[in-house]
Amino acid sequence: MPERLRVGVLASGRGSNFRALVEAAESGRLPAVIAVLISDRDAAPVLDIARAHGVEALFLDPKQYPTREAHEKAIIAALDERRIGLLCHAGYMRILTSTYTEHFRGRALNIHPSLLPAFPGLHAQRQALEHGVRVTGATVHFSDEGMDTGPIVLQAAVPIFLNDTEESLSRRILAEEHRIFPEAVRLFAEGRLRIDGRRVHIRESP
Ligand code: GRF
Repeated sequence: MPERLRVGVLASGRGSNFRALVEAAESGRLPAVIAVLISDRDAAPVLDIARAHGVEALFLDPKQYPTREAHEKAIIAALDERRIGLLCHAGYMRILTSTYTEHFRGRALNIHPSLLPAFPGLHAQRQALEHGVRVTGATVHFSDEGMDTGPIVLQAAVPIFLNDTEESLSRRILAEEHRIFPEAVRLFAEGRLRIDGRRVHIRESP
């Protein structure tokens, strides 16, 4: 039997998307193993969530490395040692160099709280509210060297209500993130995604 896809997750904070991925794997909804969680922040709650679920949790301190590239090389080495076939960026708050994105091209996914290409970067929910759009949402896309620019795998729309605050909107978007991120990982694990330029084709399930 072929080895299950080994997934690595990079995250810097709260870890709710990481939790959604782990729970999907635990419940058998993902033909994949969440093999390692790497964080760049010692105090990130996501590290404890990983430990609580028996997932190896690594803190790789950027301050321990002379350059950003050196830190990324350590991350790449840790992932390669663990034979990671898919990398998930789940709220990883660092800008990645092309060395890194090139190494994982076509096998790294990112989750973003807007309907890309609208509102990339930080505070996407606030940007959507301030712009006055009626609909925003969540996007899972392949990572590339740009900021939230790679080919889009799945999106979910979320309406904006007149009385929404950044918190209420973020909460509703997050519920969609927790649904589409594991779904995108499942499609990848089943070998059903094919990147064709900017478009991602999803093969029907056999
Ligand atoms: C999410 O909104 C995600 O879309 C963004 O960062 C946030 C991370 O939240 N990239 P969490 O740590 O997964 O709870």
